[in-house]
Amino acid sequence: MKSPDKNIKQNQSFFNKGAKRYDNPLLQFWMRRFHAPTIEELRFTSATKILDISCGTEELLKKLQGKAELYGIDISEAMLKVAKGKLGAQATLQKGDVHALLFQDRFFDYVITTEAFHHYYNQQKALQEISRVTKKEGKVIIVDVNFFLKSIHWLFKKLEPGHVKINSRKEMKYLFKESGLRILTQKRSFLFAIMTVGEKPENLL
Ligand SMILES: C[S@@+](CC[C@H](N)C(=O)[O-])C[C@H]1O[C@@H](n2cnc3c(N)ncnc32)[C@H](O)[C@@H]1O
Repeated sequence: MKSPDKNIKQNQSFFNKGAKRYDNPLLQFWMRRFHAPTIEELRFTSATKILDISCGTEELLKKLQGKAELYGIDISEAMLKVAKGKLGAQATLQKGDVHALLFQDRFFDYVITTEAFHHYYNQQKALQEISRVTKKEGKVIIVDVNFFLKSIHWLFKKLEPGHVKINSRKEMKYLFKESGLRILTQKRSFLFAIMTVGEKPENLL
């Protein structure tokens, strides 16, 4: 496990520096491959509570504006500033670390995270927190990078200072199960991502 403080600082510094360039069309063309399958999984009304963890500049929630109760957290102030400029009062956005979420138990119908899980210094703890704030029978959707070639994973690690670990399908399933979440589906999204969808069972606190 990486040192928590060092990991948080590395991620904050990396994403604070990159926030202004994050919405560039080429990068967002790539990010849409993570957002689109996530949005397809959602079934919502205006009362559905959706939390986007590591929301970045909030291109995902922007697509759901006015359609549900939207929440986002991220540890990068600069990414959140861009997100707030887009969503204003349409979403509750706050600075926060996935490992210690500032929400009460069983609050959200959906908790999602896209292209961020490999940055978390303690992935099991992060998923436990995600599960804690999810309602019973609520859904957890994690879409994260996964390439066919291990050498690309190695390259990713070199390029991203706050990188911790890219998981295989089997490893993601294990983490979900250890957090008490029931796997509903797992599928590849394009050549470079895997989406895992789980449900919090009725008997889990
Ligand atoms: C590659 S960006 C993805 C942003 C967004 N989810 C998207 O799909 O465009 C990864 C994000 O994870 C955030 N992040 C990294 N570690 C985090 C942590 N411990 N808690 C919350 N957010 C974190 C970063 O600040 C960054 O905004």
